[in-house]
Amino acid sequence: MTDLASLEAELAAAVTGAADLAALDAIRVAALGKTGSISNMLKSLGSMSPDERKTAGPAINGLRDRIAALIAEKKAALEALALEAQLASERLDLTLPAPPRRKGSVHPTMQVFDELTAIFAEMGFAVAEGPDIEDDFHNFTSLNFTPKHPAREMHDSFFFQPNDAGERMLLRTHTSPVQVRTMMSQKPPIRIVAPGRTYRKDSDQTHSPMFHQIEGLVIDRDIHMGHLKWTLETFCRRFFETEAVVTRFRPHHFPFTEPSAEMDVQCDRSGGSIKIGEGSDWLEILGGGMVHPTVLRNCGLDPDEWQGFAFGLGIDRLGALKYGMPDLRDMFSGDVRWIDHYGFSAFAAPNPATGLS
Ligand code: PHE
Repeated sequence: MTDLASLEAELAAAVTGAADLAALDAIRVAALGKTGSISNMLKSLGSMSPDERKTAGPAINGLRDRIAALIAEKKAALEALALEAQLASERLDLTLPAPPRRKGSVHPTMQVFDELTAIFAEMGFAVAEGPDIEDDFHNFTSLNFTPKHPAREMHDSFFFQPNDAGERMLLRTHTSPVQVRTMMSQKPPIRIVAPGRTYRKDSDQTHSPMFHQIEGLVIDRDIHMGHLKWTLETFCRRFFETEAVVTRFRPHHFPFTEPSAEMDVQCDRSGGSIKIGEGSDWLEILGGGMVHPTVLRNCGLDPDEWQGFAFGLGIDRLGALKYGMPDLRDMFSGDVRWIDHYGFSAFAAPNPATGLS
C-alpha cells in the first residue's frame, strides 16, 4: 500500500507540475497507457489470491480514477491557459489611435476648378459637361474645322480604332464640343462654363498629354466682343485676386470663332518666377471670340437672331501660374510629396465672398 501511496503522490506532483499539454499527455501515457504503471498494476490483479484482490482491487481502481480525474482537471486548466495566450497574442486593440497617415488634400487643378466655377457662377454662368470620348462631328466638323485641318491628324489627337460604322472616336482635344452639345440641347439665352479633361499628344514643361480646360459660352441677342472682353478682364482680376491685372487681346484664328483673339496677361518674368500685375512681359492664357455663324447654323440657331461669344482656357496652366509651379507635368505624376506641398485643404471651399485661395 505504501507503494500505491508513494506512486499516487509522485503522479499527482508530476500532473500538477506539467508545463504544457504535451508534458501532461506524456504523464498520462506513462501511468494510464497500455503499459503504464497503473495499467500494469491492474493487470497484476488477475494473478492475485481472492483475498489480496479484495483490498488491492478497489485501491488500484481508486488510484486510477483519482489520477485520471486529476489529469482531466489539469488538461482543462492548460487548455484554458493556451487559449488565453493565443487570444492575447492575436489581440487587436481597436481603441488605439491609427498609425499616423497622410492627410488628404485637394489637387491644385481641382482647387482652380472650384475657384473658376465660383467666379463664373457669381456672374450667372451654369456648369455644363460633355463626354471625354467624342466623335468627329462634335470635336471638329460642327466647329467648322475643314476636312484637312491639321488638328485632325494623328500627331495632335488620340484616336481610337474605327468602330463598326467606320467612325473613329477620339479623346476630345478641347472642351469646345460642349458648346455644340449645349447649343443643340438648350434654347438660348445660354450662359455656361464647361470644365473638363482634354487630351493632346504633347508633353513638355508647359504641356501635358492630359490637361484641363474650361470653356465659356454665352448666346443671346446683341452680344458683342465688348461683353467678352469685360467678362474675361473681370474674371482675371477675381482669379488673380488683384485689381492690378493688365490684359491685352491679340488677333488670332480659331475655325469656330470670328473674330478670334488670344488674351495675354502682363507679368514680370525676371528673377525666375512669374509675377502677375507687374513687369513688361506678356503671357497667353486663353483663346476666345464671337461664335462663328457656321457653328450657330450647325447647331440649329439663326445667326441673324442669335450671337454669342466663347472662350477656352487651360486650367492647369492657370493654376501653375497662380500657385507658382515650374513644371506642368508634376501635376499628374502622382508624387505625394508634391501634393503635400501644393495641395489645398478640403474644408476651404473657394468662395468669392470669403476669399478664393
Ligand atoms: N478650343 C480652343 C482651344 O482649345 C479655345 C477656344 C475656345 C477658342 C472657345 C475660342 C473659343 O485652343
